[in-house]
Amino acid sequence: MAKITIDPWGSFLVKDYEELIGKYGLEPFTDELLSKIPQPNKLMRRKIVFAHTDLGRVVDAINRKKDFYALTGIMPTLEKIHLGTKLVIENIKYFQDHGAKSFVLVADLEAAATREVSLEEGRQRALDFHIPAYIALGLDPKKTVFYFQSTNEKVKNLGYIFSKKITLNEFRAIYGSAEPSRIMSSLLQAGDILFPQIEHSMPGVIPVGPDQSPHVLLSRDIVNRTKNIFNFVPPSGIYHKFTPSLDGDLKMSKSKPESCITIPDDIDVACKKIRRALSGARKTLADHRKYGAIPEKDMSFELLKQHFIENDKELKKIYDEYKAGRMTTGEIKDITCEKLTKFMKEFEKNFEKARKIVSSLKFIG
Ligand code: TRP
Repeated sequence: MAKITIDPWGSFLVKDYEELIGKYGLEPFTDELLSKIPQPNKLMRRKIVFAHTDLGRVVDAINRKKDFYALTGIMPTLEKIHLGTKLVIENIKYFQDHGAKSFVLVADLEAAATREVSLEEGRQRALDFHIPAYIALGLDPKKTVFYFQSTNEKVKNLGYIFSKKITLNEFRAIYGSAEPSRIMSSLLQAGDILFPQIEHSMPGVIPVGPDQSPHVLLSRDIVNRTKNIFNFVPPSGIYHKFTPSLDGDLKMSKSKPESCITIPDDIDVACKKIRRALSGARKTLADHRKYGAIPEKDMSFELLKQHFIENDKELKKIYDEYKAGRMTTGEIKDITCEKLTKFMKEFEKNFEKARKIVSSLKFIG
């Protein structure tokens, strides 16, 4: 298995991601691929996007100005979103800015089947919160097609047609289990992923965390098996690393609220969590000055890298100063807190604006 190219600032979590690449059969996101992508975003430049499936097809479409699409789905389960969701939106926005027809669907049927969120509740929550939040994080509503799974007949029909194309054993091999509700949700998700091609086949990219990669791979298998019915282009995937838990675990999760930052979040509470986050400092200040910090271990630095600093030079300067021991952990945390405060305030402002336009959005299906 090819080795993942280590990002410029390294990461203690790289090993886990190499394993994910092997386990799910993903392709590493190489410098060669990166060099072909026009104006790559910070997630790509910093290899927070660590793997892909067949992204070359989409990069080619961008460079040749051909039609292609980008699509993501929202599970309307909770009242808040996770910092990790911001990474998905940032990637969708990148493709949107580079000409993608963009689709955002509300996975209300999936939420009903797997999380017992009623369709009404899911719909309302998506309208009140998730859709304006996605817009506040940078999606252009004028360039985005929105729909609900439950009212999109075409997507549902695709799900049914695809059910004939996969066996229970294959399903078990891909997903590890074969719960009926999950089978239905996965087939429906394959329907979502291929829906933009019903009228007109074209390449498409699905930006997701690695946990969702099986859906992309399943959709690609389905494309091969429905050649007699449809003329789909196999969809591409782009996979970003998880935002780690503030205690250093692989994935930030709401099950550990003290190590999780949500959007929105109370700024004071979030800053207190940052103060307690795993740091890359040495045991004493004298050692810190002498040996320097380990920024790769520092969760505040990781937040700056993944979320809060756009400019590579600015980030590199902080990295160098911290690694050399000239900057202290306290200073890194101050910067993180300051950037987070700015981000949350901006989000709230944009969110209020976005809420006002939700009623004017067109939903298809
Ligand atoms: N299953 C996704 C989640 O848990 C939601 C989803 C539904 C989705 N359809 C999709 C994501 C299509 C990407 C593409 O969040």
